[in-house]
Amino acid sequence: MDTLKILIVSQKGGVGKSTLSANLAVWFSEKSFKQTLLIDLDPHGSSSQWIDNARSSNVLTQHYVPNEFGERRWLIDARQKIRKNSHIAEVLISDLTWTSALDPEFMHEFDLVIVPTSVSTIELSATNKFLENIRWVFESRTGIPPTLLLCPSRVTEKELLGDPFSKKDFPLPFLLLPPIVHDDSVRKLFKNNFIIDFNGPIKQSFIKCASAIQNAGVIHKQAKSSIKLKLSERRVIDTHNTKLSRYMSKQTAKKEKQFIEKKKSFSGFSKLINSVLSK
Ligand SMILES: Nc1ncnc2c1ncn2[C@@H]1O[C@H](COP(=O)(O)OP(=O)(O)OP(=O)(O)O)[C@@H](O)[C@H]1O
Ligand SMILES: [Mg+2]
Repeated sequence: MDTLKILIVSQKGGVGKSTLSANLAVWFSEKSFKQTLLIDLDPHGSSSQWIDNARSSNVLTQHYVPNEFGERRWLIDARQKIRKNSHIAEVLISDLTWTSALDPEFMHEFDLVIVPTSVSTIELSATNKFLENIRWVFESRTGIPPTLLLCPSRVTEKELLGDPFSKKDFPLPFLLLPPIVHDDSVRKLFKNNFIIDFNGPIKQSFIKCASAIQNAGVIHKQAKSSIKLKLSERRVIDTHNTKLSRYMSKQTAKKEKQFIEKKKSFSGFSKLINSVLSK
């Protein structure tokens, strides 16, 4: 299964990682009809607890609590957890609070890396610093790096009027998701319901954001498969002077000639039919 793997991460607490993780998982499951697995990598386990205790859904959850501390061990275990379980769902979402001790190499396990951020000046600066530390992941030339998405989160009506992203210089390119608006009712949904169950501006903004994430996933997967195609093309080019490839190209030329002749006779035939019909 070509699972879409999404990491929701930031170094800053309280920006809405767990809210986005739990609600996005339920959206993929119920609005996009995808088998969804949430692997909660946060020691607090808020997003997995939310899903496990709220009204029933088909989202599968796992909460990974490292029993042996140490960053190297964490990286190996968490990576293994993602790889072992990715085949059981079409969409895999992970919720993680980043610490500078973690190895950004881990992000390569995912297709999309989503960083929720509020748009206040102070928080955008913190996000900027975080991106500076992990930028090499997205600039890597080995393999296909994940796609970086910034998600403006808890955005107030007043903030919606501003344009904080064009004013700030970010250290690397990213896709900007539609903002999720601030709504105090979100607090009451925790362990009860989900944003899609609740009518109001937050639902509209969340659905736009979730759809954009899904589209980004499709684009990322397409880019990934086209790169694979290029590699296989290269393999053909690399071997173009072998005996086998010379034989194959002769065969192809022969087939092409036969095809062109068939097409010619067919067009003669269709001309004949047309002339009969027009009589
Ligand atoms: N769109 C929103 N509008 C209003 N409040 C929100 C919104 N999204 C999240 N919150 C509230 O903000 C608080 C932090 O949200 P959440 O727990 O999702 O953040 P987090 O980044 O996972 O935090 P932590 O780092 O502690 O794990 C919660 O009380 C939550 O109810
Ligand atoms: Mg959290």
